[in-house]
Amino acid sequence: MRTGSLKNKTVVITGASTGLGATLARKCAQQGARLVILARNGKRLEAVARECEQLGGEVMTVVGDVAVAEDGKRLVEAAIERFGRIDYLVANAGVSQWTAFAEIEDVALFRTLMEVNYLGAVYCVHPALPHLKKSKGHFVAISSIQGQVGVPLHTGYSASKHALQGFCDALRMEVAESGVGVMTVLLHWLKETELRQRALGRDGKALGTASRRHRAEAVSLEEAAQAIVRGMQKRQQRLYVPRRLRLLAVVHALWPPLAERVVKGKVAREEG
Ligand SMILES: NC(=O)c1ccc[n+]([C@@H]2O[C@H](COP(=O)([O-])OP(=O)(O)OC[C@H]3O[C@@H](n4cnc5c(N)ncnc54)[C@H](OP(=O)(O)O)[C@@H]3O)[C@@H](O)[C@H]2O)c1
Repeated sequence: MRTGSLKNKTVVITGASTGLGATLARKCAQQGARLVILARNGKRLEAVARECEQLGGEVMTVVGDVAVAEDGKRLVEAAIERFGRIDYLVANAGVSQWTAFAEIEDVALFRTLMEVNYLGAVYCVHPALPHLKKSKGHFVAISSIQGQVGVPLHTGYSASKHALQGFCDALRMEVAESGVGVMTVLLHWLKETELRQRALGRDGKALGTASRRHRAEAVSLEEAAQAIVRGMQKRQQRLYVPRRLRLLAVVHALWPPLAERVVKGKVAREEG
């Protein structure tokens, strides 16, 4: 397994105005990476860019929506125009859901989840692929354990992350010979992000600040970003954060009813 520093590497990150994407950008900047960061909120994105510059990174911002294919192309073109290459593309932008399927009032919510979490990654990696081939770069898809194990109250979110996982597993085999790596990051719940308050409710709108707090174990942004950067440097294929999460995937493959009992218990504790 090859390892390497991110110094002078061009790292493109979507969804970098808050949460994990912003933390990842700061981590890469500390290593002297050249960053191209995208999100819809330009003001917050600029604030992250200033922080990254202070940490030693060279940064360019692109305001855009990953659910729009044209914005994926624009992101890649901007990165090439500014830095001439792409070494890592991190598809991190995401939106969640916290609603029982039966209570959903408009199934358009499912389209939003697929457009952001799955197609949002496809729309960026498709135009980036020729450049990743040139640099023998790496595509990093920020997924969730929900890409492997379904979770109640998250039907549409789990489905979108399963789609992303299947896409990445197939793509990895297609591009392996060209030297491009594909890593999926299967995360547990993260603390300190806005994912829960922005999660879509029964009416398809963000739940807002009154949404669930983390009661069970959850990973800090710092720990998650550190593990992801290490995984990028080692060019890993599948990264579980925390590592013990892999156990759930194994149990789910061997004995699904046990895994489902565990998952239902954890969701119920977060609800309670
Ligand atoms: N938090 C968790 O517990 C958890 C667990 C497992 C996996 N994950 C995954 O980790 C990733 C990051 O989530 P987070 O927890 O850091 O959430 P977050 O704090 O809500 O951040 C989400 C980021 O994505 C951006 N974004 C959302 N929709 C977008 C769109 N259509 N186009 C462009 N950017 C968009 C947001 O910026 P703008 O609003 O400015 O566009 C924001 O920067 C997601 O893929 C999520 O599924 C999170």
